Amino acid sequence: FIRMADLDLKGKRVLIRADLNVPVKNGKVTSDARIRASMKTFEAAMKAGAKVMVMSHLGRPVEGEFSEENSLAPVAADLSAKLGKDVRLIKDYLNGGFDVADGELVLLENVRFNVGEGKNTEELSKKYAALCDVYVMDAFGTAHRAQGSTHGAGVYAPVACAGLLLTEELDALTKALKEPARPLVAIVGGSKVSTKLTVLESLSTVVDQLVVGGGIANTFIKAAGHNVGKSLCEDDLVPTANKLNEIMNSRNASIPVAVDVVTGKEFSETAAAETKDVSAVADDDMIFDIGPKSAAELAEIIKNAGTVVWNGPVGVFEFDQFGEGTKTISKAIAESKAFSIAGGGDTLAAIDKYGIADQVSYISTGGGAFLEFLEGKKLPAVEMLEQRAK
Ligand code: 3PG
Repeated sequence: FIRMADLDLKGKRVLIRADLNVPVKNGKVTSDARIRASMKTFEAAMKAGAKVMVMSHLGRPVEGEFSEENSLAPVAADLSAKLGKDVRLIKDYLNGGFDVADGELVLLENVRFNVGEGKNTEELSKKYAALCDVYVMDAFGTAHRAQGSTHGAGVYAPVACAGLLLTEELDALTKALKEPARPLVAIVGGSKVSTKLTVLESLSTVVDQLVVGGGIANTFIKAAGHNVGKSLCEDDLVPTANKLNEIMNSRNASIPVAVDVVTGKEFSETAAAETKDVSAVADDDMIFDIGPKSAAELAEIIKNAGTVVWNGPVGVFEFDQFGEGTKTISKAIAESKAFSIAGGGDTLAAIDKYGIADQVSYISTGGGAFLEFLEGKKLPAVEMLEQRAK
């Protein structure tokens, strides 16, 4: 595909689709990670002398209706502060009728207020396209959605290209999964096997070690023949866990199973934590973390890895007494020489909690999009850019 960095944008009307879908509380942005990640693209376009229009969604409002709670006003305020100048938020933009100066940046109100955005209608897509000379797709976090602003706009725009953030994300993911330094280790945590099944299936064909954590691991512990007590476990997926083990073993790869675990009797912040051998889980126990021996084994695996891909914590790290496993893994990633890439909301929260952001090689802004890439799926917005480049 065409990269924004290779185009002359001077005096051009440049429409950038960014993912500024950030958490907002009481009218204020509470985590600006996605805005910060998008700034390089905005600044490059402004510096090049383009008339910059930025569009994004925020939340999932009802199309055709304005709602204060989904307005991008807090994002406009955050952008104004970052750029040190006023960023206008334009509400009615679909039929043009507003001017943008060379080097200026304006923000267009939430694209999901527009009828046809979700269904990617030709009518809406053509309206977006008519606003610009160059369309820049930079919303990696929304690249798995074929919507008006992420797909249709690029189909009809005079020129469609990838922005700096999208390019960087794809380069990092490609480096980690398509041309990895080996051993390639993937850590997949989360509560259920069913929600990450396609990710696990896809990774089982490429990684050298697949570390499963959280509720997902319980199904594998059960498949290994152990009692999981009252732990979250999907019994019907035990055969699937066995199948994944077989696939990995046939490739001389493995899914390590915990040798010890940390259990509690109830899911609560004050639940007492007990460390025990994986074979000693009682009928009324719930597994909430991996034990110290297992964590040390995983830390060793991470230390010797060439590449680490991380999505999902290995325990209930929100509660400190069940966070040691995730903490040990975080530290191991921070200390490892491996190229590391992490993505997903819970994973970023763990990275923040254990303060290792600067030591992870690449932190993705994608949640669902990151997972779909791990699943080996083609992202529709990227396919559109590839199509346009032909
Ligand atoms: C995300 O937060 O994962 C992206 O912004 C996509 O949001 P969506 O799931 O509402 O499409």
